Amino acid sequence: MTNLAVQLNRLHLQNPILVASGTFGYAKEMTAFVNFPAIGGIIPKTVTPQPRPGNPTPRTVETASGMLNSIGLDNDGFDLFLTDKLPYLLSLGTSVIVNIAAKSTEEFRLMAERLNDFPGIAAVELNISCPNVSGGVDFGTNPEQAAQVVRTVRESCGIPVIAKLTPNVTSVVPVAQAVADAGCDAVSLVNTFQGMAVNWKKQRPVLGNILGGLSGPAIKPLALRIVYQVAQAVDVPIIGIGGIQSIDDVMEFLVTGASAVQVGTANFYNPGVSCELVKQLPAALAQLNASSVAEVVRTLKIQK
Ligand code: SIN
Repeated sequence: MTNLAVQLNRLHLQNPILVASGTFGYAKEMTAFVNFPAIGGIIPKTVTPQPRPGNPTPRTVETASGMLNSIGLDNDGFDLFLTDKLPYLLSLGTSVIVNIAAKSTEEFRLMAERLNDFPGIAAVELNISCPNVSGGVDFGTNPEQAAQVVRTVRESCGIPVIAKLTPNVTSVVPVAQAVADAGCDAVSLVNTFQGMAVNWKKQRPVLGNILGGLSGPAIKPLALRIVYQVAQAVDVPIIGIGGIQSIDDVMEFLVTGASAVQVGTANFYNPGVSCELVKQLPAALAQLNASSVAEVVRTLKIQK
């Protein structure tokens, strides 16, 4: 028997295959494709204190081996999430990691306090890294501000805390170190890379918001590089994100330093991919003579 369970400080997952925020809706629309109890967990779309209409259209565009999005955190707001979305998510028989964003640490505190009323939540992921919204939601570019948000949420709720970090900084390591010191249980590495698409015939940007976040296989080497750099420098469990679509991708992130992974853009073109990866994981671990996920995490051999 292979032991697929992973422990990221206070967060226990039955297996390391999660689905990333913003690529899985609020799960209802994925019912036909995914056996929810089989996967490690669901991270629904980011929710903010108030409803947000999101950015002007077009909001997505396909790029070479990837996609750009500039959704702008479109969501119905925290109240409606708690009454209309969360009860359904918590009934699905898998871990639910609520993803929140806010414009101030005070707003983060208020949201975190209310999550205490829902004991079934596995963790809260702090989206301090959205590249598509201006005004206070990209705390993740500043180590002190990122740490302050983590500290505030940690003090306000008893739920494990994950900080989702941006790659759009010179180095992610100081931010990862700061949020680890502030007490987060894990870091999600990484959110999207800021990019742009242009229609030269119209001489216009393609996205309504001009800039967007690049995701998909195009960013996998970049995300792996950041997981590697943080794993070498910071003692904090890592959840790898970035172009994961195959079991080889999963294994690459695990050996490089991730204890779990999030499947994101691949859900759009293969909505059943998360279940497929869970099924394929034991055979891949066996190729490294491992009978548990923990045995392969951070096992990259470095020759210097
Ligand atoms: C968005 O809603 O614009 C994307 C969310 C994110 O990148 O954090």
